[in-house]
Amino acid sequence: MKTIYADNAATTYPRPPQVIRAMSSYLRDIGCNPGRGGYKGALDAARMVYEARSALASFFNVPSPEQVVFTPSITYSLNLVIKGLLSDGDHVLLSSMEHNAVVRPLTRLAEKNSLQIEILPCSPEGILDPLQVKEALRPNTKLVLLTHASNVTGTIMPVYEVGEILKHTGVFYCIDTAQTAGSEILDFQDLHCDYLAFTGHKGLLGPPGIGGLCISERAAEITKPLVEGGTGSRSEDVHQPGFLPDKFESGTQNAPGIAGLLAGVKLITEKGLDRIKKHKTKLTDCLLNGLKTMPEATVYGTQKAESTAAVVSLNLSGMDNGEISFILEQQYGIMTRSGLHCAPLAHKTIGTFPQGTIRISFGFQSKLWEVEKIVSALCDILKTASKSS
Ligand code: ALA
Repeated sequence: MKTIYADNAATTYPRPPQVIRAMSSYLRDIGCNPGRGGYKGALDAARMVYEARSALASFFNVPSPEQVVFTPSITYSLNLVIKGLLSDGDHVLLSSMEHNAVVRPLTRLAEKNSLQIEILPCSPEGILDPLQVKEALRPNTKLVLLTHASNVTGTIMPVYEVGEILKHTGVFYCIDTAQTAGSEILDFQDLHCDYLAFTGHKGLLGPPGIGGLCISERAAEITKPLVEGGTGSRSEDVHQPGFLPDKFESGTQNAPGIAGLLAGVKLITEKGLDRIKKHKTKLTDCLLNGLKTMPEATVYGTQKAESTAAVVSLNLSGMDNGEISFILEQQYGIMTRSGLHCAPLAHKTIGTFPQGTIRISFGFQSKLWEVEKIVSALCDILKTASKSS
């Protein structure tokens, strides 16, 4: 049976050959520790890391490459923002569509310190009205933290509009781009944000274990590092360097991961973000149209492909989503993710807590025939269920 991977919101698969080649060639031909020696291998490694930093700075329109900090994951990047910026008495705004990568560290911090967390309720489609942010601002609001697109419904948030609202307020602004980097336009300067957290292993087509944070100069000054240690710079000093990117990059870096991420970013740039977005929108539209022919299917989110990252959540009436996901894989070779997707707040917002949904998500390598196969498999499952009831 030919398999179909429809869980790109969890990670991209299959990895493009360019990414695999770049990683193995790094390990084989360079293999040394960037910034930790004056010999050729270490210098070549450092050059590759700098090339990746520059490529990402130009991809996200960040003023300088040093403002792109590499981290092990977007969860790490978001923890760095939350734990490095916030202190007692601060007020934080977030939407009700946020992932546990944001909600859990904030909850623990609020339980320990006198932090005020305010969750702005989104509509049942997962939409946030940007005016809600404006109205909720208080004198002690320190941070607004928003996902660019929900990992449950794919609903795209008005992050540019919120940036316009915040740009002269002094409030720090962080955007979680886990579901959009590599398919939506993300312009750090136009967003007027202080932190743009990204992951390497989803839309940017890289491997797991590499992520990052684009950071404004004012945020870099005030944010404390999450981890301190060797940076290959100022080794005489027992204090962590205060300059970028070293302030936030301690310990040996995941250089093979960075090499893979660089190859992914180059590939996206070559193909064109616009073309990738159009491709994903076409696939999402095809799935949404197919689902419209099934009265038993409840689809969540805006149900408009152009305002959705390529993520669709649904339920089939009377059936358990975990069971459907299991049947899809066992009988049709289709891989999806069911349940709560580490985003209980989002499921509460759309009315699917605690049962969750089946999530189908497309990537760069997904094909139209695969979407048609998914639609026909869901129709089949419904027919079988109606015969046996
Ligand atoms: N956050 C990832 C997902 O939504 C892993 O599946």
